[in-house]
Amino acid sequence: MSKLSKIEIKSYKGIYAVDFIDDAFKKMEELSNSNVCFIIDKNVSELYKKQLSSIITKSPHFIIEATEENKDLSKFTQLAVDLTKIGVKRNVTLVAVGGGIIQDITCFMAATLFRGLNWVFFPTTLLAQADSCIGSKSSINVGGVKNLMGTFTPPNHIYISVQFLKTLNPVEVYSGIGEMIKVHGIAGIEKLKEFSANYDLILKEDSKLEHFLMQSLLIKKGIIEIDEFDTGPRLVMNYGHTFGHAIESATNYKIPHGIAVTIGQSMACEYSFSQNLISKEINDSAQGLFAKNWLDFCKSDLNFDVFMTAIQKDKKNVGKNVSLIIPKNNAFKIEKQEVPADSSFVQFCNSYFVKKGFHVI
Ligand SMILES: NC(=O)c1ccc[n+]([C@@H]2O[C@H](COP(=O)([O-])OP(=O)(O)OC[C@H]3O[C@@H](n4cnc5c(N)ncnc54)[C@H](O)[C@@H]3O)[C@@H](O)[C@H]2O)c1
Ligand SMILES: [Zn+2]
Repeated sequence: MSKLSKIEIKSYKGIYAVDFIDDAFKKMEELSNSNVCFIIDKNVSELYKKQLSSIITKSPHFIIEATEENKDLSKFTQLAVDLTKIGVKRNVTLVAVGGGIIQDITCFMAATLFRGLNWVFFPTTLLAQADSCIGSKSSINVGGVKNLMGTFTPPNHIYISVQFLKTLNPVEVYSGIGEMIKVHGIAGIEKLKEFSANYDLILKEDSKLEHFLMQSLLIKKGIIEIDEFDTGPRLVMNYGHTFGHAIESATNYKIPHGIAVTIGQSMACEYSFSQNLISKEINDSAQGLFAKNWLDFCKSDLNFDVFMTAIQKDKKNVGKNVSLIIPKNNAFKIEKQEVPADSSFVQFCNSYFVKKGFHVI
C-alpha cells in the first residue's frame, strides 16, 4: 500500500471513495466477474496487455481508442448495441480504465444505458487522476462541438495508481500538472507558492507527485461538495479555461488541454496585473511557474480571429462582455470579472501572444 490511502467525496448519490492503491491490476482482478464490463483505453490495453490478460478473460470488455471522435454522441448508438451484445444488463457495473476520454464515454453510458448503471473508474492519465476523476461530470461532443452535452453521474468508486503514469507521454504529464497548478492557484497564494517551490521534485519523485495529486483532489473536493451541479462557487474551476479553451480552438487542438490551461492561467494573471489587481511580485513568480510547464507550445501557430471568436462565444459570457475568471488581490482570490470585449481587450490578447513567442496568424 502506498502511504496515501483514501479520500471520500460527498455527492447527491451518496459518498464515493477515491482509493490510492499500488497495484491496480490486483484490484481489477478482484472486481472481475461476469457482472462487470471493462471499458479500456486502446493504448492502455496494449501497454499493459500481460497484466490485463486474465482480467479480460474473466469479464466482458470493450477496448476503445481515446479520440475526441469516439466521445461524439453519434458513436453512442453503436456502443450501446455492442455493450448489450457482450452481455451488459441492468445489474452490470461498467469499469473504466483510461484517461478523461474513457471516463466521459463510460460515465455518459452509465448515466443513460438502462436508465443508469453503476460505474467504477481507474484513471490512467495524470489529468484524470488529479482532476477530472472527481466532480461527477460527463462531457460529450455533439456534431463536432466539444463537451456540448453531459450529465452529473458520480462513479461508485475510484482507484488511483500512479504506476500508470510511468508509460504516459511526458507531454501528458505536463498537461496534468497544468490542472494541478490551477487548483493550487484556486486555493490561494500560499498553496500556489508551495506547489511552485516543489515543482521540480513533483516531476522527479513519486512520493511528491502523490502528495500534490492528493492535495489537488482535496482542494477540488472542497469546491464540488458545496456546488456539485456547477451553479455558482464551482465557477472558479474555470480559472485558466476561458483563455485556455479559446487557445485550444485557435491552435486547432494541437496544444494538450492542460498546457492550454497553463497558458490560460498565465493570461489571466497578466490581465489581472495589467488592471493592478495583483502585484508585480506575485505575477512574476506565477509567470515563472507557468513558463516551466508550457514546454515549447508557446511557439505554436495561433489564429487570432479564431481565438477572439471563441472567447466571445464562451458559455459563461453575459451579453457582449467576456467573463474572465482571474486572480485578485495579494491573496490570489479567484473571482469572475465581466470585461468588455473592446479594442483594449483585443490589444491585450494580441500583445500577450506576440510577447510569449506565438506565431500569430
Ligand atoms: N468529465 C470531466 O470532468 C472532464 C474534465 C476534464 C477533461 N475531460 C475530458 O478528458 C479528455 C482528456 O483526457 P486526458 O487528458 O485524461 O487524456 P485522454 O483520455 O485523451 O488520453 C490521452 C492519451 O494518453 C493515452 N493514455 C492514457 N493512459 C495512458 C497510460 N497510462 N500510458 C500511456 N498512454 C496513456 C491515451 O490513449 C491517449 O492517447 C478530454 O476529452 C476532456 O474534454 C473531462
Ligand atoms: Zn480542464
